[in-house]
Amino acid sequence: MKKQTQTLLELDRQCVFHASTHLKQYAAGQVPGRVVTGGHGIRIQDSEGQELIDGFAGLYCVNIGYGRSEMAEAIYEQAKKLAFYHTYVGHTNEAVVHLSERLLAMAPTGMSKVYYGMSGSDANETQLKLVWYYNNVLGRPEKKKVIARDRGYHGSSIASGSMTGLPLFHAYFDLPLDRIKHTVAPYYYRRDDDNMTELEFSRFCADQLEAQILAEGPETVAAMIAEPVLGTGGIVPPPEGYWQAIRPVLDKYDVLLIADEVVCGFGRLGAAFGSILYDMKPDLITVAKGLTSAYQPLSGVMVGEKVWQTLEAGTDTWGAFGHGYTYSGHPLGAAAALCNLDIIARESLVDNARDVGAYLQQQMNAAFGDHPLVGESRGIGMLHALEFSSDRQRRRHFDPNLKVGPQVATACLEQGLIARAMPHGDILGFAPPLIATREDIDQIVAKTTRAVNQVMDQLVTSKQWQPR
Ligand SMILES: Cc1ncc(COP(=O)(O)O)c(C=O)c1O
Repeated sequence: MKKQTQTLLELDRQCVFHASTHLKQYAAGQVPGRVVTGGHGIRIQDSEGQELIDGFAGLYCVNIGYGRSEMAEAIYEQAKKLAFYHTYVGHTNEAVVHLSERLLAMAPTGMSKVYYGMSGSDANETQLKLVWYYNNVLGRPEKKKVIARDRGYHGSSIASGSMTGLPLFHAYFDLPLDRIKHTVAPYYYRRDDDNMTELEFSRFCADQLEAQILAEGPETVAAMIAEPVLGTGGIVPPPEGYWQAIRPVLDKYDVLLIADEVVCGFGRLGAAFGSILYDMKPDLITVAKGLTSAYQPLSGVMVGEKVWQTLEAGTDTWGAFGHGYTYSGHPLGAAAALCNLDIIARESLVDNARDVGAYLQQQMNAAFGDHPLVGESRGIGMLHALEFSSDRQRRRHFDPNLKVGPQVATACLEQGLIARAMPHGDILGFAPPLIATREDIDQIVAKTTRAVNQVMDQLVTSKQWQPR
């Protein structure tokens, strides 16, 4: 390791509190660190001079790829003109006005206004407050519970972390809050009943949701929050007919739908929004990540007309809307988002995500559809997952202590490819930048194939596993 890298990492281990990291092992130098120094296109570079294909676009966010000087210039020009002014009490800036108009024009129908934050977590926190306020205005103070889903991911703040349905984000943090409930994940591969078709499984999920609303009392259930495609919980596209089965249940009990489009929005699925692709008809939408391709931190809450009318009416009674972040509507974020949306449109990246995304699915399925270590190869657009299985016929999972998913992710790194070991289950995730070409996909699939085979050979030779 170069002296400079070593010095930086030593200092880092002393001073930096890292997200999603084993704190003690990292501080003791037992887990590796990496100093990322640059990036271009779908690749990043580190301080050791290594170049890696970023098969996960950072955290499914650098959709236009790294190193776009056009983005840097847009941010710089905005910073020279106006680096900051707040958006409280009617103050605005040109970039935020244009961005909002543009977002509403491209959003699913019925969206009325956009509220801005800095992260997906704070946007979902805002969603919860909007839903509570909405029901207070409507004189339904008891209608406050939100149903999220097992394996959903909505962030890691107090409320968004509560809505997240992964044990790692709850245990030892005193979460979830009691107003947040969880229903079954739309995870067909992990169904209990082998004989169910996808359509039957979707019906089952809708029946479970309805039973839960009834058990809680419909007069207490305010909203459901869901990602169009489950992301961090395993990259799981919904089973056939899922949203068509869910939406009528929500309508029946006057339950709002919050579509968390933080990953799916702006093209990742090969459509502008997952809500449009699946015809979800959300009342509220959360966006972040692909909004700026992470060149600036920016998130948004799109508020549908029905909710908006009620929020407006509330301010008639209670005065100014008591919710605000200093950086809400930050001009640098808005300028970055506008430039990002220009690039997405000019380079037809939504179409690319659909076309090259279909190629990604096809090549992954060809390589892993019958692979002895892979229980399921699944995805949509530029999102894919390989779920490893100890017994693919019977859909059995590996002992988590074997860390099969993380082992394959490490083997991918040795091949110069970043793929993400998802936090729950032996699942390897892919979410390349939307600019990826077929040649890039060929490289990603070839490297992954070598990595998966290498781990399979190790498991067999160490007698930890036999193909079934
Ligand atoms: C669907 C979804 N919602 C919300 C979030 C939280 O976003 P942030 O990490 O910006 O707070 C994420 C982050 O991965 C996400 O995937």
